[in-house]
Amino acid sequence: MPKVLLTRQYPDLAHDLLVAAGFDVTVWPEPRPMTAEELVEQAKKVEAMLCTIPDKITPEFLQQCPHIKVIAQFGVGYDNINVPEATKYGVAIGNTPGVLTDATADTAFTLLLCVSRKVLHNHKKILAGGWKSFEPDKSLGVELKGKTLGILGLGRIGVEMARRCKGAYSMNILYHNRSKNAGAEKEFGARLVSFDELLRESDIVSAHCSLTSETKGIFNKDAFAKMKRTAIFINTARGPVHNEEDLYEALVSKRIWGAGLDVTNPEPMSFDNPLLSMENVAIFPHIGSATEEARNGMARLAAENIIGFFKDGVVPNNVNPEYKK
Ligand code: DGY
Repeated sequence: MPKVLLTRQYPDLAHDLLVAAGFDVTVWPEPRPMTAEELVEQAKKVEAMLCTIPDKITPEFLQQCPHIKVIAQFGVGYDNINVPEATKYGVAIGNTPGVLTDATADTAFTLLLCVSRKVLHNHKKILAGGWKSFEPDKSLGVELKGKTLGILGLGRIGVEMARRCKGAYSMNILYHNRSKNAGAEKEFGARLVSFDELLRESDIVSAHCSLTSETKGIFNKDAFAKMKRTAIFINTARGPVHNEEDLYEALVSKRIWGAGLDVTNPEPMSFDNPLLSMENVAIFPHIGSATEEARNGMARLAAENIIGFFKDGVVPNNVNPEYKK
């Protein structure tokens, strides 16, 4: 049976499904991601690989690993994989959509609450011995009822974020997308607007787009300058979607009110990054999909992408159907 490399210790289900299907499975035993050299060294020996965000699938990697036939990404985003190049090499790429939608939308919504009520700042204040008495005029947050939510990328996760904000706070929903989302327009009156209008009109701007050459750095100095001074920026998509220096400047200069990030650039973020000590900022260490349900679902879909490829010639969640020469 084909050999499969698991580049990290994924939930057991991935390993168990592959072994039960008869694959010869090798697991990278270290708690850290492999270096580029280690990745090539390990991947040279296999025909399939289950990988994730830190594993960079570059033209150099593909050139050095000619036996690889299928790569299953553990995640819905796959910007660590050079898909056009993989397609040229005839490598099928699969991802894990759907199973992490609720978990990621919950993370975006949690960040919004944490920022708007300065939750992490207040928690840190207690830890630092700073809770001395009830303070009538300190640590004041802002309320969310009736506000306008602007979503960049109204796909599955964006829709769930909108549903939460509409349901909990009767928010108005704006979105900017390549295509119209008729379902969201019907369900909660979402309105498709230009990116500029999204920035100008929204009280909360939440990024749910993929990382592409179009979205890389889209939240930059110019974008923050167009946002309301009271605006909150949320990013649960990918770190490079915002420019961190520009975001920091926008927060320090009070150009925008606050920010909540589940993704940073680079990852991991350094523990002494000044954003971490700002009152109106909440940062999580890329835990969008970190629930048992989502991670097991991702493990299952990733394993099924490999099994399907070898057993039936079909990758159930294939992102490059043109890989077949
Ligand atoms: C994804 O699926 O792309 C997430 O970022 C991983 O949790």
